[in-house]
Amino acid sequence: HSADIGVIGLGVMGKNLALNIVDNGYRVAAFDLDEAKVFAAEQQAMTEVPERGLVLKGFHSMPELLQSLSKPRILLLSVPAGKPVDGVCQALIDAGIESDDIVIDTGNSLWTDTIDREQIYKGKFIFFSSAVSGGEVGARFGPSLMPSGDIAAWEHLAPIWRAIAAKVDRVTGKPIERSHPGQRDTDGEPCTAYIGPSGSGHYVKMVHNGIEYADMQLICEAYQILHQGLGLSAADVASVFEKWNQGKLNSYLIGISAEVLKQADPLTGKPLVEMILDKAGQKGTGLWTAVSSLQMGCPAPTIAEAVYARAMSTQKDLRMQLSKQLVGPEIKRDPTERQTLIDALEAALYCAKVCAYAQGFQLMAMNAKEQGWQLNFASIASIWRAGCIIRAGFLQTITDAYETAPQLDNLLQAESFANTLSQLQQQWRQVVATAVLKGVPVPCISSALAYYDSFRSDTLPANLLQGQRDFFGAHTFERTDKPAGEKYHLNWSQAERTLVKID
Ligand code: 6PG
Repeated sequence: HSADIGVIGLGVMGKNLALNIVDNGYRVAAFDLDEAKVFAAEQQAMTEVPERGLVLKGFHSMPELLQSLSKPRILLLSVPAGKPVDGVCQALIDAGIESDDIVIDTGNSLWTDTIDREQIYKGKFIFFSSAVSGGEVGARFGPSLMPSGDIAAWEHLAPIWRAIAAKVDRVTGKPIERSHPGQRDTDGEPCTAYIGPSGSGHYVKMVHNGIEYADMQLICEAYQILHQGLGLSAADVASVFEKWNQGKLNSYLIGISAEVLKQADPLTGKPLVEMILDKAGQKGTGLWTAVSSLQMGCPAPTIAEAVYARAMSTQKDLRMQLSKQLVGPEIKRDPTERQTLIDALEAALYCAKVCAYAQGFQLMAMNAKEQGWQLNFASIASIWRAGCIIRAGFLQTITDAYETAPQLDNLLQAESFANTLSQLQQQWRQVVATAVLKGVPVPCISSALAYYDSFRSDTLPANLLQGQRDFFGAHTFERTDKPAGEKYHLNWSQAERTLVKID
């Protein structure tokens, strides 16, 4: 029997994707430079469901791997982004890969690298990409998959992708849980859809991660207000989050945050969260999203602040020093304000979250326009309803918003969100004001409010800004009473200042 698909790279993601694929009735040929990983994956597939035999078979060289596959071959790459991807591609060329074989990069590659690779490998094989979200458990029992590139290649691999993806109920849109080896689901709607031309899937995944950064930081800010500002214990904050998880804020990230907060430290018995050093790591996708937003001129302050918040967290030594030097307000805890503030915080978190998603979706829309991609935002939101890290009930609301108005410039225009934010904005302000007065930093919650207020403003002080630019650099300005595009300059340095129309 030839295998249906080759999996190269049997780290956490690669191995679990391979196990997911065999659960769905396909035969996998697996390869990793580390032979122990090949053996472990083979063993795991065997022991999980012994009766199905050797459906995941390991190989110890690329030529052997290629020989074992039916043609045109499908190869799933799960190797770290960057040079390793090109290393494997070259090894495949050396091993005799053919021009109609399909190589799928599933890592968090930089989207522009993916566009370049499609060109570089043209004629040698079809370089395709499919970003994956969902971490270890997602990969194993249903991730969200964002395929992009050659459309014929997509049609060839789509049945496997639809089989392994997370599923939602076709009527309610709610995730269908799968958690046992050998189990499959064939009824639900799969969380995968063709995104667009090469690079678009990785761009969309990058923005997913930018939103993920914002979502995570927003929850962390809520924790700090509750813990530091109101004096709630980790366990009490967990209870608040669990309650929120039953309402509008229902999401995977709120759920796991409650879990983390409830966990006791095995060494000291204290809440584990209090023993975890407050320095956050990052691998780059959030940063890329923020950089892209700056390059595109698309405001995404909440996503950018989330990246800065991680950077600020790593300045631990300086923070330790300055915490002794710089003065802040004395935190007064008034027990009577507690419940009001907790309720307001739930509202604020929801509003800020809507803004972070609005930023991410507008960014995708602007880049799509520049790249000439036709992205379907209802479909993108719908494949994030299950499987991925930002999965939440909320993604159904976004799906509905884009189904009603596919051409929305910004999610804040959608009636459902505009109405809810209008209703909740007062509580949001109360939270930001309270945090500021207590000296609790809330860069994401507050930048989102500034984003909301900026979009609410038909006039921003950029009139003064253009005046300043014209003053020192003759950069000209347009006038409110003249057609757009007509440029004017005032001779600021002349004794008698005159207005000049610039042609
Ligand atoms: C996902 C995650 C995943 C990973 C990223 C983000 O969607 O499954 O986003 O891709 O966790 O590497 O991680 P960092 O926080 O390390 O940048």
